[in-house]
Amino acid sequence: MNSRAAGALGAWLALTIIAAVAVASVNFVRVRDSFEAEARTLHRVVSQRADQHDAHLTSLAAVLASPDRSVTTLGALAEAILRFYPRITGIDVISVGPAPDLVFTTRGDQPKSPRMSEFAAAAAKLSPGQAVVIAEPNGAEAYHLIKRLPETTSLAGVLVMTVDARRLMEPEGDLPAGTDLALRDPSGRDLTQAGEVISSGGLLPNFIFEKALGSRSQPLLLRVARQPGFGELLPPLAVALVTAITGIGVLLAGFVLRERRSAREARERASFHEHQARLAHAMRVNTVGEMASGIAHELTQPLTAILSRSQAGLRLARAPSPDWDEIIGALDANVRLAKRAGDILARLRAYVSNSGPAPEPTSLNRLINNVAELMQGDLERRGIALELDLDPGDPVCLVDRVSVEQVVHNLVRNAADAIEVLSQERRTVTVTTTVGGGSAAIVVRDQGPGIPAADLPRLFEPFFTTKPDGMGLGLPLCERIVEAFGGRITAANAPEGGAVFTIRLPLLVERRKEAAE
Ligand SMILES: Nc1ncnc2c1ncn2[C@@H]1O[C@H](COP(=O)(O)OP(=O)(O)OP(=O)(O)O)[C@@H](O)[C@H]1O
Ligand SMILES: [Mg+2]
Repeated sequence: MNSRAAGALGAWLALTIIAAVAVASVNFVRVRDSFEAEARTLHRVVSQRADQHDAHLTSLAAVLASPDRSVTTLGALAEAILRFYPRITGIDVISVGPAPDLVFTTRGDQPKSPRMSEFAAAAAKLSPGQAVVIAEPNGAEAYHLIKRLPETTSLAGVLVMTVDARRLMEPEGDLPAGTDLALRDPSGRDLTQAGEVISSGGLLPNFIFEKALGSRSQPLLLRVARQPGFGELLPPLAVALVTAITGIGVLLAGFVLRERRSAREARERASFHEHQARLAHAMRVNTVGEMASGIAHELTQPLTAILSRSQAGLRLARAPSPDWDEIIGALDANVRLAKRAGDILARLRAYVSNSGPAPEPTSLNRLINNVAELMQGDLERRGIALELDLDPGDPVCLVDRVSVEQVVHNLVRNAADAIEVLSQERRTVTVTTTVGGGSAAIVVRDQGPGIPAADLPRLFEPFFTTKPDGMGLGLPLCERIVEAFGGRITAANAPEGGAVFTIRLPLLVERRKEAAE
């Protein structure tokens, strides 16, 4: 999986979790609110039911207080109550006094309740008309509501109403899953419990509702608890929706990001091309300027030589007895120099027309001899000696002869410039050819002051010159020519003093001198 896919998966997971937590929180609040509403409704219903018990006891007491207190009327009323309210399981009337006795019961011929005297004792503590709850022990899930008959009743006694606690707290509908329902007697003991017993300490907090019934006579505690289920908080449909929506969101975001990235890349490409075009234009403009200077630079040398030879020829011709050999020599030199100027122009034309110089197998030794011949007169005039130390292997390289001649010519001229003002014994320029490691080298050295270290890195920059009349184009042109034939040119200072320029060119063949002859 690539990092972009992993990132998208991570983003999708994170978004899904965040959305699921949000959905679960909303559902948690909703489920808790509906739980509280249901619990309050149940509390109200159960309180009303308890109030009904008080009302029944009041009616029964009223029957007992009426002048025609008849067991028949009491029995009919009690029967009706039992029939309509199944949670009331029995009604008794007990006389109080030294020997409590059962005066009336709905329980038929059942044996007398063993708790009769306990009820009588409890009633004795009540003020007339007051009622109290006595729970049935041993998990019988019932309680007795004891009411002391008012003074107005001729009978001194108590009314006992037995209530099925489980039915009392029965909700009107079904008990929702996960609900724990309990009714506690005033002493805090569970009278009855229904539903699931919920333990605390689950992953989700429990909802708990606890409130005493609104009845004064039966202050029983209603407790409703519910454990919210994960399914309620995160219904499968919601999970599926959240997953799908976040998935679509991440896909859309990925699509938008990709579009934006490719738009940005296209912009960057466009600006890069524009930059390239501007650079190419600047280079073209530069090259035109450089070339114009280059043409002037390259033609100056042959034209100057032609001028000086022509002047010398004229001088000789005007002499009373002209030396025809010398005149012919000067004219010969002029022809060669003019040819060289033509060669340079031809090469420049080739350069401009983009066809480039035509490399051919060229003997470096012969090329250097040509240059030496060409420069001899000029160097002699300046009192400079040119020494050649040529490799007998006669290295042959694939180069354009005229171009490389120009390179050697430029280097020798620079060397001559550097030593011109020195003493006689130091005015020597040496040109060497060597062969080794698949390449041939032309080394031009002098015994001049050498090159200051600070200038070394700038020598091949166009227009770098330290000469008052220099153009600073000789070395850049040399570099361009040498590199065009796959070679390199370097400058250094010799340990014994003086500058050393080395041209290294790929070797085509090495011929033994004997073989060449
Ligand atoms: N043999 C040398 N000894 C000392 N310094 C040199 C030598 N050759 C070149 N330089 C330095 O390098 C500089 C650049 O040489 P380059 O041939 O490029 O230009 P230039 O000779 O100054 O002018 P031109 O364009 O007329 O040749 C020179 O000005 C000089 O300072
Ligand atoms: Mg120069």
